[in-house]
Amino acid sequence: MNVQRYTPPAMLLHWVQAMVVLWLLWLGWHMVDLPKGAERSAAYSLHKSLGLLALMLVLVRLAWRRKHPAPREMTRGWEARLATATHHALYTLLFLAPVAGYLASSFTPYAIKFFGVELPKAGWPDESLNSVFKLAHEAFVWGTGGLIALHIAGAAKHAFMRDGTLQRMLPAWLLRN
Ligand code: HEM
Ligand code: HEM
Repeated sequence: MNVQRYTPPAMLLHWVQAMVVLWLLWLGWHMVDLPKGAERSAAYSLHKSLGLLALMLVLVRLAWRRKHPAPREMTRGWEARLATATHHALYTLLFLAPVAGYLASSFTPYAIKFFGVELPKAGWPDESLNSVFKLAHEAFVWGTGGLIALHIAGAAKHAFMRDGTLQRMLPAWLLRN
């Protein structure tokens, strides 16, 4: 089948970001239940660094996509519209979720570090503002999780139908297609 693929940088960014975001969802879900102590602090610290990396990745992805539009949809009608709407909503939430996380962390007494490098904060210790952004972060990340589940279900359906959609996000050498 003659498949129009995404560009190699778009594929690389997609798979690196997919791994980072799935890791973040798992880590975030587990770390909030850890007892206070060194393990919890290390988990929060790693979560913030990975979260900021996810934010950078989405910005690079969007910048790349502006110059290199996605290949033409292979399906038509409601399926193509649902795929496009899911991708747009995913990009929006992949931006809003880490920004809300950064703002929530800004209104605490703790430093925000990116793999050990201290970053400027956008706020000051304030419990009520911290709660507002924590709530927004929680809503955005679970929205992201729901969309990812829908997205993976869609990809699995296409893989099952062998209609070439999955190949668009996989390098030709991997499939010898
Ligand atoms: C097993 C996991 C995954 C599979 C199999 C998968 C597969 C795919 C495929 C085949 C496409 C191209 C769809 C098309 O051409 O219409 C795509 C696009 C996309 N995926 Fe995934 N994906 C996975 C995980 C994720 C995750 C975790 C995220 C979020 C971080 C994500 C975000 C996106 C976005 C935003 C697009 C749109 C790309 C664009 O048009 O610019 N994917 N994915
Ligand atoms: C795409 C990026 C991100 C994802 C998918 C993500 C995911 C999550 C998840 C699943 C939780 C647990 C929510 C709950 O059920 O209570 C969480 C909590 C948290 N996240 Fe993120 N996060 C991201 C980015 C960030 C960033 C950039 C920061 C800060 C720099 C951050 C700081 C926090 C903090 C402080 C909590 C704990 C909130 C609490 O104690 O209730 N996150 N995150």
